[in-house]
Amino acid sequence: MFQIAIDGHSSCGKSTLARALARELGYIYIDSGAMYRAVTLFFLENQVDLYDHTMIQQHLGQVEVSFSLVETGNRTILNGRDVEDRIREMDVAAKVSPVATIPEVRRKMVQRQRELAKNHGVVMDGRDIGTVVFPHAALKIFLTATVQRRVERRQLQLFEQGHIVDYEDILHNLYERDYIDSTRSDSPLMRSPEAIVIDNSNLTPEEQLAICALLARHRMEMH
Ligand code: DC
Repeated sequence: MFQIAIDGHSSCGKSTLARALARELGYIYIDSGAMYRAVTLFFLENQVDLYDHTMIQQHLGQVEVSFSLVETGNRTILNGRDVEDRIREMDVAAKVSPVATIPEVRRKMVQRQRELAKNHGVVMDGRDIGTVVFPHAALKIFLTATVQRRVERRQLQLFEQGHIVDYEDILHNLYERDYIDSTRSDSPLMRSPEAIVIDNSNLTPEEQLAICALLARHRMEMH
């Protein structure tokens, strides 16, 4: 089964690309960041102390993350509840990077990600997909864009969901998340040596999709 890994910093348009590429190739799409966000929401709602490893273990056992496929795309399901919109809000965004540094959380998520992708061609986006989750992925892409474009995109995305958030607040959140994601000791965000780097600052979604679909088809022919 073909695995396509898309990694990169926050708000580079990874999910837009991954979703479109999966549709184009007839693969499933898995948003691994949504899974970390769902765990974060669960921890917030249950007042889990992020420094208390016993408490974390206990609560992790009660977390079940899955996806349901609807007309408009994937919806993230936390213990049977649709949390797709809720996990995009700023309180979750502010806490998700610290939660994603916790080794117990990562172990559980990586296991679940592999399980969800079993028996399917898959496009998965995240931070450690090409390095940890699928080190043998047929195609690895490392997506990047200027900070300005990334903030604008996140602001527009939040606006479309009915939230008006300051440019500066988003910028601060992005910098903070980039820093935590890249410097944590357990599977930090890193470009895998085999990954192809694409800077999409000046590409339309259609252009980046066309480039990646071409790369994917080329890899498939080689296998
Ligand atoms: O892609 P995103 O912004 O929804 O990801 C949310 C957070 O989850 C991000 O701060 C980093 C973390 N994450 C991770 O550590 N590993 C992944 N594979 C995906 C996301």
